[in-house]
Amino acid sequence: MTTFRNRRTSLSGRWLPVAAKLGEYRTFFGAAVRNPTAVGAATPTSEAVAATVAQVVPTTGSPVVVELGPGTGSLSGAIHNRLPPHARHIGIEIGADLVRHLQQHQPWMETLHGDAGNLRALLATLHLDKVDAVVSSIPWSLLTEETRQDVLRQVTDVLAPHGAFTALTYLPARHSEGGRHFQRQLATTFDEVITHTTWRNFPPILHYICRRPLEE
Ligand SMILES: C[S@@+](CC[C@H](N)C(=O)[O-])C[C@H]1O[C@@H](n2cnc3c(N)ncnc32)[C@H](O)[C@@H]1O
Repeated sequence: MTTFRNRRTSLSGRWLPVAAKLGEYRTFFGAAVRNPTAVGAATPTSEAVAATVAQVVPTTGSPVVVELGPGTGSLSGAIHNRLPPHARHIGIEIGADLVRHLQQHQPWMETLHGDAGNLRALLATLHLDKVDAVVSSIPWSLLTEETRQDVLRQVTDVLAPHGAFTALTYLPARHSEGGRHFQRQLATTFDEVITHTTWRNFPPILHYICRRPLEE
């Protein structure tokens, strides 16, 4: 027999994912209002972006994957689902509220509260000096030239020879001064830079997938 009480339970069960999504948007938007230049977006990226990003992640062995700027974790679930059981998935996030959100909702990720500019030192606290993939969605085109160069240098230092580095930017940002400079920096830092656009996001996302750091 379906009682009023049972109906209420199944209805609230159906709304749980919606409530979770709203909670995620509220946390992200709050962080964006408090620190617009660090977050660099008003909403998290779409599942279509996450599905593409996850393709660079190894599916075998015991890989180590680092996410720079996981935010509320909109890319993290797709990455996690593709990783093999003995993988490590490390998130480095600068926003304290976002770190709390990630620790609560993505407990399988090793979330560090810190700056991508301290990548090497942060990984050293986990006794790591090499990683198999770095996925980044920090607002690259808003950073200063020196900061971008410093983070890129640390990425190439920690990337294993077979590793992949992915950077996401909004498609229109490629025409900004910072965006154009970032493209040049990538071209002089990596032997291979492949681009891909995900249109199912607002605004569309430009992915840079980079391999084989060049010697300085
Ligand atoms: C555009 S949001 C992307 C969030 C999420 N990955 C997504 O795709 O929806 C940028 C994220 O990078 C974080 N961030 C910005 N600068 C950072 C830095 N230097 N170190 C670590 N995280 C940073 C922000 O707090 C924010 O969560």
